[in-house]
Amino acid sequence: MSLVFQGEDAATRRQAAVKFLKVDQCEGGVNESTQLKRRFIREVKLMASVRHQHLVEVYDAVLEAVYPYYVMELIDGQTLQLRMKLPPVPGFAAICRLGWQVAAALNAAWQKQRIVHRDLKPGNIMLAGDNVKVIDLGIAKAIGGNTHLSQITTMSGMMIGTPYYMAPEQHLAEKTIDCRTDIYALGLILCELLGMRYPFEGMNHRELLVAKKTGCQGKWERRAHGAPTAVLELVNAMMEPAPEDRPQTWTDVLQVLAEAEKHAATADRDGILVTASQVIEGGTRLIADPAAATTELDGTRTELG
Ligand SMILES: Nc1ncnc2c1ncn2[C@@H]1O[C@H](COP(=O)(O)OP(=O)(O)OP(=O)(O)O)[C@@H](O)[C@H]1O
Ligand SMILES: [Mg+2]
Repeated sequence: MSLVFQGEDAATRRQAAVKFLKVDQCEGGVNESTQLKRRFIREVKLMASVRHQHLVEVYDAVLEAVYPYYVMELIDGQTLQLRMKLPPVPGFAAICRLGWQVAAALNAAWQKQRIVHRDLKPGNIMLAGDNVKVIDLGIAKAIGGNTHLSQITTMSGMMIGTPYYMAPEQHLAEKTIDCRTDIYALGLILCELLGMRYPFEGMNHRELLVAKKTGCQGKWERRAHGAPTAVLELVNAMMEPAPEDRPQTWTDVLQVLAEAEKHAATADRDGILVTASQVIEGGTRLIADPAAATTELDGTRTELG
């Protein structure tokens, strides 16, 4: 439903990423377009409400337009989804480091605004040099509290989130969605990285839910031979079917991963993280004249995703 381009700030010539909403391709008519626009606006507000080193930074947004868009820092790297398909196989320390950085971003989002990402998956994690960035708060939700962030409209009949990495309670659209739902998703990603394979490969939606409810604890571990025991235990706990059996806070996850990274670092020769040719530093920047920016962007597009 969106397009991401590389663009250039007309005034400063600084590169940025620009995400447009493709409302014209929405087949559901005016109502659905309006809902998509509302959701897009919420995405921007949620992203702008938390600043963190490992969460992509929003610079500016033009939302009252035929094609709403927002401008964010350009991440000079690749998605984890792409990285997973390329050699070399990541080392344990690199996996712990990656997990720690994602957990740190989501901890900040949860602590500061009670934000749950709800679509954490390798395609929404980007790697730039040694730095991980979580992107795409497209279906994120703020739980309670801040009302301008927590209002959410859900399109009828449309599934929210990507089934592969969803926690069981999210499959079942239960109301108990909180940080433990994202903890589950990160557990599954770490399980895939450590075991070098998605644990529920080849299942349809229904089989996937049954397998997640049963739990895959233990079954995948032989493929993660040599991984630190504390990490295996952590990942198994993160993937517990019931939220109350998982680590209850991001702090619990962060502690184990930080400790494990230190121990694994010496044995870990392979880095998962690509060397970025250039990492754009953060810093708030406003495009003074959105019309000028649009013109400039129109002329210099390189599609990223
Ligand atoms: N800030 C950025 N810098 C560089 N590339 C980016 C950036 N944001 C997004 N991308 C690229 O664009 C792709 C799509 O972005 P994003 O996930 O935000 O859109 P989406 O439409 O919600 O995608 P999906 O539905 O596949 O999750 C990403 O997978 C990534 O390759
Ligand atoms: Mg995405």
